Amino acid sequence: MRQLRIAAVGDVHLDERLRGSYRKRLDDVEQHADVLLLAGDLTRHGTLEEAAVVTDEFRDLPVPVVAVLGNHDHHSDRPAEIAAMLSDAGITVLHDDATVLDIDGVRLGVAGGKGFGGGYAGKCASDFGEPEIKAFVGHTKRIAERWRVALKELQADRRVVLSHYSPVKDTLAGEPLEIYPFLGSYLLAEAVDAEGADLIVHGHAHAGTEKGVTPGGIRVRNVALPVLGRAYGVYCL
Ligand SMILES: [Fe+2]
Ligand SMILES: [Fe+2]
Repeated sequence: MRQLRIAAVGDVHLDERLRGSYRKRLDDVEQHADVLLLAGDLTRHGTLEEAAVVTDEFRDLPVPVVAVLGNHDHHSDRPAEIAAMLSDAGITVLHDDATVLDIDGVRLGVAGGKGFGGGYAGKCASDFGEPEIKAFVGHTKRIAERWRVALKELQADRRVVLSHYSPVKDTLAGEPLEIYPFLGSYLLAEAVDAEGADLIVHGHAHAGTEKGVTPGGIRVRNVALPVLGRAYGVYCL
C-alpha cells in the first residue's frame, strides 16, 4: 500500500489584511502532500468576514482539505455559519466525527474536532464542585467520548486525528505551565489511545513544540503556524 503524505497547519488566523497571502504558499501543495488538514484558529476573531478570507484562501485546491474550528473561530458566536461557509467551499469540517477520503485506493480516515482543555493527568481539573467547573470538564469529557466512538466506527487503512487543542503536554513545551489546562486535555489522548490512530495533529499552542507522543505511543504533531514556521508540516504514514 502506498505511503500517504499528510500536510497540516493550524492557527493561520486570517483576516482581510492577510487576503491572498496564504494562497500563494499553497501553489505546489499537491507535489508535497495528498491531503491538507487545518487544525483550527483559521480566523482571528471568528467573524464571517474573516471566514470569507479563509474560504477564498483554501477553496479549489488540488488536494482534499479537512478542517476543525478553533477557539478563535468561536469568538463571535458564529461557528455554525463559519463551518457552513467552509463546507460550501468544498472543505470538510469535522465536529467530533470522522470522514474517509479515498487517496488512490488507500482509505484515509480523519477523525476529530475542536477538542477542549482541562489539563493533564495528575494536574487536571476534575468533575467536582460548582456547576461551572463541571460544565468545563464535562465539555471535554463529552468530546473525548465522541472521538472514541468515531474512531471505533472508523473503517480506514490509515487513521489521523485532527484537533485544535492538544491531547498531550509534550507539544506544549515552551508555553507557560500556568496555562496548560487551557491548552488541552489528557482525556483526548486517552480516547485516541483506546481506539488507535497513526497520527494526531493539533494547533492552539503557538509557543509550543512540534513533536510529541501519547502515553500509548501515537505520534503527535503541533502544527500551529508559529511553531512550524513554514506553510504546513508534512507527515508520512
Ligand atoms: Fe491560535
Ligand atoms: Fe486556539
